[in-house]
Amino acid sequence: MRTLVTGGAGYIGSHTVLQLIEAGHEVVIADNFSNSRRSVLPRLEELAGQPIPVVEVDLCDVEATDRLVAEGGFDSVIHFAGLKAVGESVEQPIRYYDNNIGSTLSLLKAMDRHGVRRIVFSSSATVYGATPTLPCTEDAPTSATNPYGWTKQMIEQILRDTAVADDSWRIGILRYFNPVGAHPSGLIGEDPAGIPNNLLPYIAQVAVGRRERLAVFGDDYDTPDGTGVRDYIHVDDLAAGHLAALEHLGASDTPVDVWNLGTGQGTSVLELVHSFERACGHEIPYAVAPRRAGDIGSVFAAVDKAHAELGWRATRSVDEGTASTWKWQSQNPTGFPED
Ligand code: WQD
Repeated sequence: MRTLVTGGAGYIGSHTVLQLIEAGHEVVIADNFSNSRRSVLPRLEELAGQPIPVVEVDLCDVEATDRLVAEGGFDSVIHFAGLKAVGESVEQPIRYYDNNIGSTLSLLKAMDRHGVRRIVFSSSATVYGATPTLPCTEDAPTSATNPYGWTKQMIEQILRDTAVADDSWRIGILRYFNPVGAHPSGLIGEDPAGIPNNLLPYIAQVAVGRRERLAVFGDDYDTPDGTGVRDYIHVDDLAAGHLAALEHLGASDTPVDVWNLGTGQGTSVLELVHSFERACGHEIPYAVAPRRAGDIGSVFAAVDKAHAELGWRATRSVDEGTASTWKWQSQNPTGFPED
């Protein structure tokens, strides 16, 4: 299949591009590089063993997006592009709604206009809201606790309404839990701009000496060791889930469907710290700090639906996630080279 991967220069996008190519698909990356570096591209091509076409485009530019889809000859789209920092979304809601929803509407209009109606959308477990019944099942009620999460919820609704209006669409909504890890080569990985919001990249930066110590946001949750529990899924398992969903859409007669991409297992903050210490071979200094606003104690996925319908399940352990992250971070202490 010839697939357009929006946000394909990003963390999950780049790992997915690689697996699509390895599976024999043709890929074009569209990215505005607002949260990714161009220096990932030669590394991706080295790993893929072939050139990868890249179009620098802001999907909010309706004309440019229409031209991209009109000229691209695409069979399908995987849509990663979007702003995704929870805290930033609380401070800048208008920017998040404008960018995430505006860019998606621009993309969908172009797809519909040019008869490209197969899309896999990058959603998030954040739509399970503040008090999820565990494990999270795909039929659970959804809500959000921050503008970023609301953009994911609203885009899921836009996609459902699109499929109801025209059943020729094939739409796969993937709800990620907590992505971790890196490609085994250590050539690509997660490289957040500024101070990492997420746990593992912050731990990795402490381990490599860029940060002094980890702040553990609360140790008084109703969990085995009191620290937050999450479902950490290796980014290469996540990428494989996208490939499985894309190929499933090609053979499906269901206009829209949703799947969790998780492991079904919960891991606490301190368990992740100790896993990383085993990976890097030295202690990760940390101090317990107050809870972070908006955090909840435990979240993990029900994973049967993706296995039954996509024939996919996560196979990599949390230790493989921390070990591959350490390999990436120790080989690239300051992340990707500046563009
Ligand atoms: C994990 C655990 C924190 C940082 C977010 C988004 C979600 C998705 C994944 C995009 C929690 C604790 C964290 C730190 C800590 N992103 N923590 N110290 O909040 O589960 O999910 O990222 O789709 O939408 O909400 O991930 O990595 O921020 O936190 O103690 O410096 O680590 O309290 O228990 P989260 P996280």
